[in-house]
Amino acid sequence: MRDFSGRVAVVTGGASGIGRALGARFAAEGMRVVLADVEKSALDMTVADLRREGGAVTGISTDVSKQESVCALADEVYATHGAVHVLCNNAGIGTDETRSRIWDSPANDWTWAFRVNVWGVLHGIKAFVPRMLAGGEEGHIVNTSSANGGLYPLPTTPIYATTKAAVTTITEVLHHQLRMARSKIRASVLFPGPHIVATNIFDAARNRPADLPSERTGTPPPTLDDVRRMAEQAGMEFSVTQPKEVADYTVEALQQDRFWILPRGGRTDEAVRARIESILDRSAPPPLGM
Ligand SMILES: NC(=O)c1ccc[n+]([C@@H]2O[C@H](COP(=O)([O-])OP(=O)(O)OC[C@H]3O[C@@H](n4cnc5c(N)ncnc54)[C@H](O)[C@@H]3O)[C@@H](O)[C@H]2O)c1
Repeated sequence: MRDFSGRVAVVTGGASGIGRALGARFAAEGMRVVLADVEKSALDMTVADLRREGGAVTGISTDVSKQESVCALADEVYATHGAVHVLCNNAGIGTDETRSRIWDSPANDWTWAFRVNVWGVLHGIKAFVPRMLAGGEEGHIVNTSSANGGLYPLPTTPIYATTKAAVTTITEVLHHQLRMARSKIRASVLFPGPHIVATNIFDAARNRPADLPSERTGTPPPTLDDVRRMAEQAGMEFSVTQPKEVADYTVEALQQDRFWILPRGGRTDEAVRARIESILDRSAPPPLGM
């Protein structure tokens, strides 16, 4: 998609981090932007900030883990704007699993992560794609995965990595099916990075649903600063990526119609290559760091 001006973008998880940066960038491109988020106060603040900067931005409270909530979002967007051209299924959470092994990981954590990270993406596709196809216009679906799981799983985060592997596969299948349907809608998978992106994801528990309480006790989950300290103590280089950089290369990828929205840098290419080699060699997956 080359022409963004006047078109409509919907971004889930739009109140914070990468979603907020995507919304800001789409607004700067002249799009009408709808941010959807479960965190009402943060959503209101983000919408007010982006409007102050001149963006045509609105917010709709949405819980992507609930099909009826995402359908209501689609109804409202179509009633107001009549079309959607870019849909970013971006809302996502991470659970506190750095000390977790699969065999003792809590069921509530798996359920919560699948509801938001996987069902959230599916609900978005099911609520919007049929209407986008019926509209007959050019459009693009961007699903936010993660290099962690979406390309190779880090052993420290089994739940998160598994959900993001699902997001990559869902998007790849969606891409093929849209092509087979000869539609004007494209699909892409976004891997934010190349380093940890400085967002509020380390505080994702703020939006944990009451019906899935944490079964963990003891020390609280690590913050971004904790991760920085751990990396430095392990003698590893630690860098962060800013959300704006992710939004910038996402827009560039949409303009160039790229499926894999994958930044260069960091250790990603090396890790992907090593994993593919191990598959072709029929050998064990290569060890991966934190
Ligand atoms: N930060 C990183 O380093 C990184 C790396 C790879 C992938 N990602 C992915 O990027 C996406 C955005 O995360 P972020 O890093 O900007 O974190 P963030 O916490 O800053 O933003 C996530 C947003 O999603 C919202 N959200 C959570 N549950 C929701 C629900 N049920 N319904 C609607 N909205 C909900 C939150 O309120 C928040 O505004 C996620 O899918 C995440 O997995 C992040």
